[in-house]
Amino acid sequence: MNPILQAAEAVTATGIGALGYGLIEAQAFTVRDNQVHNPEFSFDSLRILHLSDLHITPAQTRKINWVKSLGSLKPDLTVVTGDFLAHMQAVPAVIEALDSLLDGPGMFVFGSNDYFAPEFKSPLKYFDRDREINPIGQALPTEELRQQLLDAGWIDLNNRQQAVTINDIVIDARGTDDPHINKDDYSKVAGPYGSGTLRLGVTHAPYLRVLNDFVADDTQVILAGHTHGGQVCIPFYGALVTNCDLPTKLARGLSDYSHNGKTASLNVSAGVGTSPFTPVRIACRPEATLLTLTQQASQ
Ligand SMILES: [Fe+2]
Repeated sequence: MNPILQAAEAVTATGIGALGYGLIEAQAFTVRDNQVHNPEFSFDSLRILHLSDLHITPAQTRKINWVKSLGSLKPDLTVVTGDFLAHMQAVPAVIEALDSLLDGPGMFVFGSNDYFAPEFKSPLKYFDRDREINPIGQALPTEELRQQLLDAGWIDLNNRQQAVTINDIVIDARGTDDPHINKDDYSKVAGPYGSGTLRLGVTHAPYLRVLNDFVADDTQVILAGHTHGGQVCIPFYGALVTNCDLPTKLARGLSDYSHNGKTASLNVSAGVGTSPFTPVRIACRPEATLLTLTQQASQ
């Protein structure tokens, strides 16, 4: 056979194999367990379930059932960092998925995909760092979702702040609406925290301007999503993109984020879902994070 044809066949076969693997990995849901140790904490343990980027459509029974199963973790607090929706009729499916978690304390912010329905774009655009951010999808039932979460007693942190007491721990939480579409307005929450025992910052897309504002105001723990962990990563190397100005080495997981001599613990969730038009993950499993905040590091 012509060597060029042979090479083309090999490349095509590799591409199809990677795509097939990526479709499977996108369904390989996992729980990442991490401990956030900080001697400043005045409590022994607070378990936060951090979910992000659910991107739910009503037909995604497997994903909905997996999210439902997370209720058995019985976290002290659930925080969802946006992109709940991926379909005009997804609100009931989101509420069904979160079902048992909605019985407990929760907080949320929205991402761009809670405002605009996903539209098909070339998957290669995801790797174009200079592409224009232009949400053009159909408007989603954002307010219906917000109301259902509020009715369950969850706290809306979109450019808002609120304190809540859980297990005698006063959590002073603040958040922004999605920086990816410039809906963040940190000035609405800026300034010193109250006298709570935990200072928590929540946003969807971890743009540096928001992380820096959180850190400047002595936030101790920051939760974010949006990056999908890079979504299509290079094994043993990591993410190629973060879809924002966050460095790729911070694309997912727990890290120390420092700015002007101050440091916060930053957890970036790789997310549970993907756009329905790019349902592929490579070397980047879909995840929920169970963070245990503790004063004492376990041995
Ligand atoms: Fe997302």
